Amino acid sequence: NIVILDCGSQFTQLIARRIRELKVHSEIMPWDATLEEVEARSPMGVVISGGPRSVLEEGSPWIDPAILNMSVPVMGLCYGMQYICKAMGGRVRSSTSREYGRAHVTIVDDKATVYDGVPSRIQVWMSHGDDVEAIPENMVLTAKTDDGVVAGFRSLDGRLVAFQYHPEVAHTEHGMTMLSNFLFKVCGCNGDWDLGDWVESSVASIRSKVGDDRVICGLSGGVDSSVAAALVSKAIGDRLQCIFVDTGMLRDREAEEVLESYEAMDLNVVHVDASERFLTALEGVTDPERKRKIIGELFVRVFEAESAKISDAKWLLQGTLYPDVIESGHQGKNAAVIKSHHNVGGLPEDMDLKVLEPLRDLFKDEVRAIGRILDVPQDIVNRHPFPGPGLAVRCLGDITKEKLDVLRKADRIYIDEIKRAGLYDSIWQAFAVLLPVYTVGVMGDDRTYARVLALRAITSSDGMTAEWFRFPMEVLDRVSTRICNEVSGVNRVVYDVTSKPPATIEWE
Ligand code: XMP
Repeated sequence: NIVILDCGSQFTQLIARRIRELKVHSEIMPWDATLEEVEARSPMGVVISGGPRSVLEEGSPWIDPAILNMSVPVMGLCYGMQYICKAMGGRVRSSTSREYGRAHVTIVDDKATVYDGVPSRIQVWMSHGDDVEAIPENMVLTAKTDDGVVAGFRSLDGRLVAFQYHPEVAHTEHGMTMLSNFLFKVCGCNGDWDLGDWVESSVASIRSKVGDDRVICGLSGGVDSSVAAALVSKAIGDRLQCIFVDTGMLRDREAEEVLESYEAMDLNVVHVDASERFLTALEGVTDPERKRKIIGELFVRVFEAESAKISDAKWLLQGTLYPDVIESGHQGKNAAVIKSHHNVGGLPEDMDLKVLEPLRDLFKDEVRAIGRILDVPQDIVNRHPFPGPGLAVRCLGDITKEKLDVLRKADRIYIDEIKRAGLYDSIWQAFAVLLPVYTVGVMGDDRTYARVLALRAITSSDGMTAEWFRFPMEVLDRVSTRICNEVSGVNRVVYDVTSKPPATIEWE
């Protein structure tokens, strides 16, 4: 077990995730955890995260220095390094410029175990304001930047190690080697933990949290809610009651297919067809944020009415993942809300249910892996993410049943061709968008004046940034030909070649 002391870094969950990838168990604790609390976990090592504050500021996270004197190894990253420096008698200075992004460092200490197998010059990811001016006495400088700034140091015995940069970030070359050196060679972890163990301990903790209560859950057909339901159902069986709301904004045959899968999973599901209500509520609405708001609120109302029938439920299960927490600005008070995602924080406040979010610390690929462990059907586990407001944000302008049907047909062709080309699993998300634009075309000998359909496909690791997908031209060609031939109302197909940022993944 590794304890991660969180000083508020945006990368804390990523550190935990990397440690999981290396098959070691870790636990995140707040920076002000006491020595006794940390010792009670019997950690084999401690990691001190980065953070937005400066150790030179009054009131910044000041970890109990006794934790540095425990017998186990301690690794400080960024703020964590500056804290170790100051706590052990070194000097930190505030620098006039903030260093942010890629940098190069040279490793100057070939005896440091954490650098085993790492070349002497590497590219790293930096994000800091302060610098270490003088490392503490009896410590060894291990790495420096091209400008001669301290990029790492260690204690003589190697028990304390500090990096100015972030080895957990993919842009740091050999970051995983440094982390694994720390875990296996410095701390002596054995790497026999895996996500199966995560499932076992999560099931046990759900059982003890929920006791004999009943839990309700909104299922969407997506990976997150389905895996969350499979997990809780493993813990408490049919005391989990699921509700599937058909908003009418789903894809072609989606409701039927998803319900079949849930039946195979033995979940207890009520199906509510509210599509007419959603269509009526959205009539004439063109503003994207209003669409999202209307859908979010109506969803809550429908869900509430349904859950009121389950009299003794005490918990609401949500399939929130870590990236949802960040993107909706729930993580830090000052984070900007880009879009009002309706699956996070959109709960009715007077519902009087406690929230259960067992996947809150995980990333999508980990949730997929857990879904496989829990035997969730492949087509759900591998399904591309689909937004709560569904096709409403992919049918630009006002929404009608007729437009939704055009979009459904086109989207079906697009996804079928992607699957046929064997590309579905290489793409994070692919979908069609119906534009409120008409263009002139020619079909046979006739002039047509019909809608434009945009295709979007992106690769991503968490949906927070994305690259547009490089399709083989023949696939795009086939999709475009089929859509224009088979979907009446569309005479032109375009492909979206914008990454995120500056665009978002969805068009609205
Ligand atoms: P954007 O468009 O913000 O999307 O780049 C990032 C990811 O989130 C999905 N998305 C949503 N998911 N409720 C959801 O559950 C929403 O309101 C919502 N809006 C966007 C989007 O499909 C992409 O995977």
